[in-house]
Amino acid sequence: MPVHPSHIDIFNWMQTYEIEMMTKKYSLVTGGAGFMGSHVVDELLKCHHDVVALDDLSGGFRDNVSNEARFVEGSILDTDLINQLFETHDFDYVFHLAAYAAEGLSHFIRRFNYENNLIGSVNLLNASIKHEIKCSVFTSSIAVYGQNQLPMVESLTPQPEDPYGISKYAVELDLKAARSMYDLNYIIFRPHNVYGERQNIGDKYRNVIGIFMNQFMQDQPLTIFGDGAQTRAFSYIGDLAPIMAKSIELKSCYNDVFNIGSDHPYSVSELAKIVGQTFGLSNPKITYCESRNEVVHAYSDHEKIKEVLGLKESTSLEEGIKKMYTWANVHGPRTTPPFHACRLNLQVQNRSCPSFLWAFYILSIFSAYYSVTPQPSSTERSCGQQSRFSSGKTGEANHSYFRCSLFAKGFSLQQRKWGLLFFSVV
Ligand SMILES: NC(=O)c1ccc[n+]([C@@H]2O[C@H](COP(=O)([O-])OP(=O)(O)OC[C@H]3O[C@@H](n4cnc5c(N)ncnc54)[C@H](O)[C@@H]3O)[C@@H](O)[C@H]2O)c1
Repeated sequence: MPVHPSHIDIFNWMQTYEIEMMTKKYSLVTGGAGFMGSHVVDELLKCHHDVVALDDLSGGFRDNVSNEARFVEGSILDTDLINQLFETHDFDYVFHLAAYAAEGLSHFIRRFNYENNLIGSVNLLNASIKHEIKCSVFTSSIAVYGQNQLPMVESLTPQPEDPYGISKYAVELDLKAARSMYDLNYIIFRPHNVYGERQNIGDKYRNVIGIFMNQFMQDQPLTIFGDGAQTRAFSYIGDLAPIMAKSIELKSCYNDVFNIGSDHPYSVSELAKIVGQTFGLSNPKITYCESRNEVVHAYSDHEKIKEVLGLKESTSLEEGIKKMYTWANVHGPRTTPPFHACRLNLQVQNRSCPSFLWAFYILSIFSAYYSVTPQPSSTERSCGQQSRFSSGKTGEANHSYFRCSLFAKGFSLQQRKWGLLFFSVV
């Protein structure tokens, strides 16, 4: 019996579809034990991917990762590990979310930021090119836009202003270069202010909602920088992760950039109220701190992702915060892991003092010594005044009072010299 052409079409389509569905897809998710990464892992598992979650646990937690995924503890800086993973798994897709994402702090951890967020990304990119994966999905950030580019639209030329944003934009550019040189497909997402279950609420350098919840759970006042009038569009992870995971199915979004997040801005003061109400407090205690060098209003345009990938904002801030609260209540407060401080210290230790500063330091000690010693009694008086005048104002003033008092309290010349030597060494 002859087969009708339309039947053949349908038959062919069903075969292709079935083959697509049955073909296992292999995905690597970096930062898979982190907040956003672990949700992307879950969404990929729902789409029947075989998932390897790679994370060094510097900011993530082992129990964030579903048991259905294979968890590998390690760093994207470890090129041997990366090569071994790509050789043993035939990855089709790489979802790269591993990063240390404290934007404001990145000014003070410059080298760590570029090593971890830029060089680490290049390691993955090299392996992705070598092993000819189908698509590399990169989680960038709206930090690439810089200040005063509002609303942030994908068509704007990025002007990042801090090391975090610069490293994200450098990776974006490198993905584009790899595309034109090696035909590697990519999708770039630029999220902002994402919150939800499994967020590291102990990280005091980022995620204001997490910080507020952590403070509530420890009966501490909420800290707000500035007057709290700065606005952000807080975005619930449950609305974003499915879109990110399914993006690789849609070839028309390959080699493109998408803002992803919520459209509705809230001020930080409004946010404090909403989080307070969720915790049953209508008037939470707030400590206002000196304002930081940060963008006052940040909002991005999401028309493109709505049109191409069907982003819908279905979770209101109140609903999302309730869900996060339920999760946080079970897990309890968290403290900042010590690695942040360690890395900061390393940076400080590695910074060598220029030799002219040493010369200046030694000269100032000698001049202080010779100018103070001839008239101990008047010096004692003036230092006392200075200390009363400058007490608590600046460390430098207190330090100079300390030096004066050392020389003015009737020590012998020998004692003064030993004291001077001791403080110089210190
Ligand atoms: N959460 C947001 O609001 C937001 C906004 C814009 C962009 N992003 C980006 O999304 C990604 C995920 O952010 P998140 O909020 O889930 O942060 P997160 O800290 O919860 O997740 C990042 C994960 O990466 C891991 N990691 C860090 N350095 C690593 C390394 N060298 N090797 C292996 N793993 C490493 C951490 O342990 C952590 O689990 C980041 O790239 C971040 O820059 C997040």
